[in-house]
Amino acid sequence: MSHSTEHTCVFGLGWGDEGKGKVVDLLSPGFDAVVRFNGGANAGHTVCVGGETFKLHILPTGVLHETALGVVGPGVVVDALKVIDEIDQLAKRGIDVLPRLRISDRAHLVLAYHKIEDQLSESAASEGAKIGTTARGIGPCYADKMRRSSAVRFADLRDERDLAARVRRIVASKKVALRAMYGGDGGLDAAAVLTDIETARTRLGACVCDTTTLLQDFIDSGKMLLFEGANGVLLDVDHGTYPFVTSSSTGPNGIGSGTGVPPQLVTRLIGVSKAYSTRVGSGPFVTELTDALGDRIRERGREYGTTTGRPRRCGWFDAVVARYTARLTGATDVALLHLDTLSGFGEIGVCVAYRCDGRVFRNLPSSASQLERCEPIIEFVPGWSEELREVRRFEDLPVSARDYVERIETLIGVTVTIIGVGPERSQTLLRGGMSRVVREPLPSVA
Ligand code: IMP
Repeated sequence: MSHSTEHTCVFGLGWGDEGKGKVVDLLSPGFDAVVRFNGGANAGHTVCVGGETFKLHILPTGVLHETALGVVGPGVVVDALKVIDEIDQLAKRGIDVLPRLRISDRAHLVLAYHKIEDQLSESAASEGAKIGTTARGIGPCYADKMRRSSAVRFADLRDERDLAARVRRIVASKKVALRAMYGGDGGLDAAAVLTDIETARTRLGACVCDTTTLLQDFIDSGKMLLFEGANGVLLDVDHGTYPFVTSSSTGPNGIGSGTGVPPQLVTRLIGVSKAYSTRVGSGPFVTELTDALGDRIRERGREYGTTTGRPRRCGWFDAVVARYTARLTGATDVALLHLDTLSGFGEIGVCVAYRCDGRVFRNLPSSASQLERCEPIIEFVPGWSEELREVRRFEDLPVSARDYVERIETLIGVTVTIIGVGPERSQTLLRGGMSRVVREPLPSVA
C-alpha cells in the first residue's frame, strides 16, 4: 500500500504545539507505520477529522488511520494508564486501535512516583527556576532511565522474575528521597504502583514487542515509515532553550536512539511551524507579545494547551529560532500552519534578529539568561483582511499572505510546501512536490 517514496519525519520547529498532529494525519495514508520516538504523554496532538476533534497525548496520531500501524519506540516514556485511557476513549467513538498498536519492549514505564516527583519538584522550585512542566512525570522517568537501577521497562513486565520485589525497593527509596527533598511523598504507595504495572501487563501485553526488529523488517520489505516527533526542537534537551526544555531528543536526531532505525534512511524532514510563535511553560520567548496583540492571536488561534489547558504565550514569528531549528535538523520542507489566524492584522511582525548587550545576533544564543535579555528586531510586513479558511490553492491567497509566506521561506532558507488555513484536514494548501506525497485527495469542506 505504500505510495510514498521516502521515509519521513514530522517535527516541530518551535516549542511544541506547532500543529504536527495535523501534518502527520495528512500524510499517514501514504505510510505503513507511524512511529513515535521521543517524549511521552507531555505531547498533545489535536486532529480534526470530519468535524470530530481527537486529542491524543501518547498514541501516535497515525492510529486514527486503519491502514497504518502505530508504533511507540524505545525512546518514548510510556504512561500505560494514559495509553489505556486513550484506547478506551477511541473505542467509545468506534475506533479500535489495539490491533494496530505496537509498543517497544525496550520502552520505559512512567510510574506514579515519576508524576509525584514532577509535581513536587515544580511546586518546590523558586519562581524563576520553575520549568513549567506538564507534570506527566517525563523528566523523572528519563532520569531513572539514565540511572538504570530504578528503571522499569516493558520487557521487565514479561521477563523479570523478581520485579515486584524490586519495585517495592524502588518505591521505598523514592519515599525516603521525596520526603527528604520535599517534606512529603505525595501518598506514594507500593501496592498501587504494582497494581498499575499489572494493569499495564494485562491490558497492553498483547501489543508489546520488539519494535526495533519490526521496523527494520518493514524497511527491508519496502514499507514506508513516518516518524512523529513530539514536543518541538526548541525543547530538545541538547539543542533547546536549556534548562527550559523537555528531557528528550525532539527532532530527527532522536530517530536513531529512539527507534533503532538508522537516521540516514529518513530523507524527508518536514519541520512544522505556526505562522506566529507560541510557548507554554516557562523560559525565554524573545518575540512574546504580552499586550492586546498577543491576546488577539491567542483568541483567534485558540491557543490553549492540549495537555494542560494552560493559555499559551503568543508572539510574532521568530525567524531566528526557525532558521536555527531548520538548520539543526536539516529540514527539507516547512509546513506553515495557522496562516488563517493572522487575517485582520493591519501589519504583521517577523523577528529577523536579536539585539542584546549592544550586539546584533542572527543565531540563537545558548544561554537562557542571555536570551531573556534579547530584544527582537522586528520587520513589519503588510497584513491582509480576508479570511483564508475557504482558500484551497496558494495562488488564491491574498498577495500579502503569499508575500508573507515567501518572506518566511527566504529567512529560514527552506521551502514551505504545506500551508494550513484551518484545523480541518481539507483546510490545507500543498505546494511543490508535496502534492505527490499526500496521495489521498484532500476532502473538500462540507
Ligand atoms: P515536560 O516535558 O513535562 O518535562 O515539560 C518541560 C517543558 O516542555 C515545559 O515548558 C512544557 O510546557 C514543555 N512541553 C513539553 N511537551 C510539550 C508539548 O508537546 N507542547 C508544548 N510544550 C511542551
